[in-house]
Amino acid sequence: MIIEMYVYSRTGGSIAVAEAVMQAAELSGHAVELVRLKPGNENDPDPDTIHLPDLADASLSDLVIIGGPVHSFAADPVIRAAIRQIPGLDRKRVVLFATDTSPLDPFGGKRALSQMGEELQARSCRLMHSAVIYWNKKTRDSQIEELKHALKKIYG
Ligand SMILES: Cc1cc2nc3c(=O)[nH]c(=O)nc-3n(C[C@H](O)[C@H](O)[C@H](O)COP(=O)(O)O)c2cc1C
Repeated sequence: MIIEMYVYSRTGGSIAVAEAVMQAAELSGHAVELVRLKPGNENDPDPDTIHLPDLADASLSDLVIIGGPVHSFAADPVIRAAIRQIPGLDRKRVVLFATDTSPLDPFGGKRALSQMGEELQARSCRLMHSAVIYWNKKTRDSQIEELKHALKKIYG
């Protein structure tokens, strides 16, 4: 399976999740490209004006994984911009993950996933699985294992 991963990370948590997922997928024989999102204008709150240069094309992939942090109780605008801009994303099977620091609903993990899901709907994608990883919790390793397990089921 060809897997394209697009990840935004400011402080390293989301990229650490992505690297763990990538390592597991590669050990299972899949080809994974990890694209770290590097916006030209990182603090722009408007997904429509965030510039993401040289975004890799997803059209040849069998599965797309998109992840990044919760900021201000919502999906970071960079992630929303990426979902709008990734070439070849339409109608793809997609897995989402968000990282945050609190398991409590008001802190935005579920809201972020639902915002990312809405962006995917606009690209006619099929959401296969989504997960929040509570980065500062002792349970984060087991949450990453759960994500890897869910992905293994999708790989078939
Ligand atoms: C500016 C800023 C805003 C944040 N807002 C939230 C928030 O609303 N809810 C939450 O649970 N965590 C929040 N966090 C914590 C991050 O979501 C968390 O540390 C995440 O794992 C960071 O991912 P990264 O290391 O990939 O950048 C915030 C962090 C920063 C720096």
